[in-house]
Order: sequence, then C-alpha cells, then structure tokens
Amino acid sequence: MKASGLGTACVALAASTLLATSAQAARADRSVFGTTPGGQSVESVTLTNAKGMTVRILAWGAVIQQLSVPDRHGHVDDVVLGFDTLAPYLGKEPYFGASIGRYANRIGAGKFTLDGKAYQLSINDGAQSLHGGTTGFDHKLWTIEKVTSGPEASVTLSYTSPDGEEGYPGTLTARATYRLNEKNELAIDYSATTDKPTIVNLTNHSYFNLSGALSGKSIMDQLLTIPASRYTPTDAGLIPTGEMRSVAGTAFDFRKPTRIGARVTDGHEEQLVLAHGYDHNWVLDRQGSGLSLGARVEDPATGRVLEVWSDQPGMQFYSGNFLDGTIVGKGSVIYRQGSAMALEPQRFPDTPNHPNFGSARLDPGQTYMHHMRYRFLTSAK
Ligand code: BGC
Repeated sequence: MKASGLGTACVALAASTLLATSAQAARADRSVFGTTPGGQSVESVTLTNAKGMTVRILAWGAVIQQLSVPDRHGHVDDVVLGFDTLAPYLGKEPYFGASIGRYANRIGAGKFTLDGKAYQLSINDGAQSLHGGTTGFDHKLWTIEKVTSGPEASVTLSYTSPDGEEGYPGTLTARATYRLNEKNELAIDYSATTDKPTIVNLTNHSYFNLSGALSGKSIMDQLLTIPASRYTPTDAGLIPTGEMRSVAGTAFDFRKPTRIGARVTDGHEEQLVLAHGYDHNWVLDRQGSGLSLGARVEDPATGRVLEVWSDQPGMQFYSGNFLDGTIVGKGSVIYRQGSAMALEPQRFPDTPNHPNFGSARLDPGQTYMHHMRYRFLTSAK
C-alpha cells in the first residue's frame, strides 16, 4: 500500500471518477457560521463533491460540523454529532468533530519530562490532562489559509500556540488540511513545527453514527473491525498502565467484524467496567510507515461503511460512554450513551511517560505529520 493509495477498490473507481471530475469538480464554499460574544466572525468552509458527499469545517477548533454521505440507496444523511449553531461549540462540550492538540488523549497527572526538565500541563480531566488541557486546539479560532475547488475541494487552517500554552514548551504552529475527492474520501493532514523541543499528537475527534446523526439510533448494532492484536489497558484514571495486552479471547478482539454491543455490557471485563464501555487505545498491526487501515465500521441497516486510514500507531475507540443525555445536538436530538463513537488515530495515550510506547517528541527543524483518511463506501444488503 502506497501512502497515496487507498486500496484496490479506488483503482476500480478511477475510470468513473475521471469522467465525473471536469464537469462536476468538487467545490469549496466559504461563509460565516457565527460570531463569538467578543465579536469575532467564525467562518466555515463547505466541501461538496458530485457523489453526494458534503463536509462543513469550522474555523473554530478546525471542527467537522457536518459530514453527509449517501447510504446504499443514495439517501444522504449527516453522520456526525455536533451543533447547528456556533454558541454551544464555544461552551463545554465533548470535542464534537474537533481537531485535538497539542496532545490528543490523556497525559497522566499532566506531567512529563523532556531533556531532564519536568513540565506540568493543565489538568482538566480528574487528575489528568486530556486533549491538550483546559483550552485545547478544539477551542481556538484557527486561521483559514487556503481554500481550493477542483478535482479535490480543500481547506487549510492553521493555529499557532504560544510557548508555554497549557504548560507545553515551544511555540507550536499547527496546520490542518481537509481534502474531499470524488471517491467519497475525506483526507485530513495534520502538521506541526516548533521552536523548542516539545511533544505533539494531533487527531480529529468526530463522533460517527452511520445510521445518521438525526436517526436517534444507537451504534450498538453496527459492526466494527480494528486490525489490532493488542490494546493498552488503563488504570481507573484511563491512563495506560504500559502493558500491551493481547485481545485474543477478550471483548477487545475486533479483528473480525463484530457488533459493538455484543460484549460492551460484559461486567466480568474489568477494563470495560473502568471505562464504562470502550475507551481504549488499540495497538494497530501495522506494516511499514504509510497509511494503513485502522478501523472499519459498517451499519448493516443503511449499508454505510466508514474506513479510517492513518499512518499513526494507535487507534482510540470510544463508544460514547460519557454522552449522558445532557447534550441536545443538531436537529434537537438528545445525545445518549451509544449515540455515536469516536475513532481517533493517534500516538498512544501518555506516550511521553512510557518509553515502550515510542516517542511523541518534536524538535525544531522537524515537521510532525499525521495523515488520516475517512473513506466512505456502501455495502450490499
Ligand atoms: C476520550 C474519552 C473522553 C472523550 C471526550 C475521548 O477521546 O478517550 O475518555 O471522554 O474523548 O472527552
């Protein structure tokens, strides 16, 4: 698999796609989504292709606010949770569709050391630092740098985080580029540079429900595949213990398509009890350093299929355990446990405190890159 390719199915699609492109090139439309209480205008860019797929990205948090795809009969539904207006995105909300930084997932007690110096990050999740701290990249106004239409419609956004923000060293300049093509693939490329040694882990935190975000259905009947033989169990604070445990014979084995709800209520599985369901990082069975499949979800009812591809080593699968009915989202739908799932390709949580997890370090002169792809297909009945 080459970094640019998404499998043989793409080759099969190529001829029809070529026919479609010149007359019906993908389009990017820029407009104002809302205004902050401080009077800042928040723009959105909507990417549309000729295959019925639409994605709206906000400058606030580089959030995916809407992602609409056809089902097996061509019926288009929005499949991500979120809000219809800007105001709820500005308040406390669980990272709907957001770009997460500087460090996706948890860092134990918000502490790490780099070159012998101890750093303390802001604590915002019990005793831990989660998704970049109190005000992460999800709650920043990003700058829209570039918008293109053509065979691919795209938007590039950037955010520069000052040295010391949320306790992280170095001025970090992050970029997110979203690209939609005519094969119903949304590419997200994150990059970052720094002026001092630091740590970084960027990802997107979309909550998917392939039945449709307005359907009111649970994700529990959807089939999940995660090509991973091991996962990283956690302590009660959801910090990895450092172990990489085999999934064989456990509720964590998703190597074959499995109903999400099949084992989620198994109270004999201590790890599910601790997290109130799935909220764990899988160690992907990867080969090479390019893009590989990190997760596949299929909704048997609508036939919608999502594949998540990435070049990162881990996949956080979160079954929406903390959605407790207190949030009313798009179309006035109440979000409850199991209303959606997040699939977050990433470096392993708390990597800076586990030498066996690799490194999350970024030095001046280097460029951090995370290439990820959401690929939408349909299955036959
Ligand atoms: C974490 C969950 C957390 C959720 C929203 C996920 O990435 O794994 O523990 O509740 O984000 O905050």
